[in-house]
Amino acid sequence: MGAVGRRAKEETVEMFRRHVSWGKAEMLRAFGLDLVVGRREGTCLWDVEGKRLLDFHCNGGVFSLGHRNPRVLGALRMALEELDIGNHHLISEHRAELAEMLHRVTPGHLDYTVFGVGGGEAVDLAIKVARAHTRRPGIISARGGYHGHTGLALAAGEPRYREPFGPLAPGFTQVPFGDAGALEEAMGEDTAAVLLETIPATLGIAIPPPDYFPRVRELCDRHGALLVVDEVQSGLGRTGRVWAIEHYGVAPDILVTGKGLSGGLYPISATCLRGELERVFRRDPFLHISTFGGSEVGCRVALAVLDETCRPAFLEHVQAMGGLLGRGLHATREAHPRVFEEVRRLGLMTGLRFASPQHGPRMSRLCYDEGILALYANHDPRVLQFLPPLVIQPPEAEEALEALGRAVEKLSRKP
Ligand SMILES: Cc1ncc(COP(=O)(O)O)c(C=O)c1O
Repeated sequence: MGAVGRRAKEETVEMFRRHVSWGKAEMLRAFGLDLVVGRREGTCLWDVEGKRLLDFHCNGGVFSLGHRNPRVLGALRMALEELDIGNHHLISEHRAELAEMLHRVTPGHLDYTVFGVGGGEAVDLAIKVARAHTRRPGIISARGGYHGHTGLALAAGEPRYREPFGPLAPGFTQVPFGDAGALEEAMGEDTAAVLLETIPATLGIAIPPPDYFPRVRELCDRHGALLVVDEVQSGLGRTGRVWAIEHYGVAPDILVTGKGLSGGLYPISATCLRGELERVFRRDPFLHISTFGGSEVGCRVALAVLDETCRPAFLEHVQAMGGLLGRGLHATREAHPRVFEEVRRLGLMTGLRFASPQHGPRMSRLCYDEGILALYANHDPRVLQFLPPLVIQPPEAEEALEALGRAVEKLSRKP
């Protein structure tokens, strides 16, 4: 028997409700999204009962290269023939190769990389380095952003995720995203770092004004603080450049990547540091260690992901598909201006803002009924995140646009 569809859907839902999460099972059922994912391939996944969905959620970019991308799968299979996780106490050819590649493909002078398993811990490490390097406590992040579920990343996120788990970690301040004036007021002598998603996804694909990041960079320089960009969702080709920050001509001191680096097949994350920041670890290089961080099998997968993502032809494809999708989305918005208010898009990082906070959840359901998995942004439920796999081809983009058109039509008939 294969791995997929071993039991009936209802049996799985019940087992999940009893032993994984009662709350998720109930909530997803209430939204009509209690599918159990079975087969997955390329741009699509299938419910165990056979319903096909175009994956326009991609788990925030985990599946940016599609499900089970053949090149990445090939790299994983090859790695499994000879490697294992490796021993993180020792020197590793695979970690060295991946760090060197990240150095080459990131903006500025990010000479060193510290590896992790998930995005949250990679953000935690960025904050640790910023504090150790500047010997200051203050971390400023954006209201409505999301950086992960782990200690320091959690403290930099929305209060609702941390308050039940108090006491709260000190030293964290939040300011509105995209407002350089507010950031300037919040910065001071104790600011170690400004931590920002380049395009905050959970805030509803908020695309900053063109002069925002140059001004943030200038403020960080003026105050001797570090600029940390979280590219966990916006990086790896999503916006038509390898990193979204490249659109703004700014070099960060630290860049964090995760999700898509895994190719959707083997978890790995990375915190890329400006050369001089590595000094934090010189006296005690075992100050920060992670058993599974930068596993050697994961490094081979991530190298294959970067090989694919950094190809100019791949990035041109993302830009072309972004243009095609953008034109269709604007046409749909113009046809339904009462409910569909704004298309936010950079490359294939797309958010569709509707008129009311009820509309995002309703659109998630309407899209599901039309064969598209797309979920609303948790911190601005007016926005439907519309994040296709970057490998999408024109016929599937057209299919998605037609399906979305039908979903918006239904919404506008009964807003
Ligand atoms: C922008 C951003 N940063 C960090 C994280 C945390 O990553 P992980 O869930 O792998 O810890 C996420 C996860 O959604 C994210 O969207």
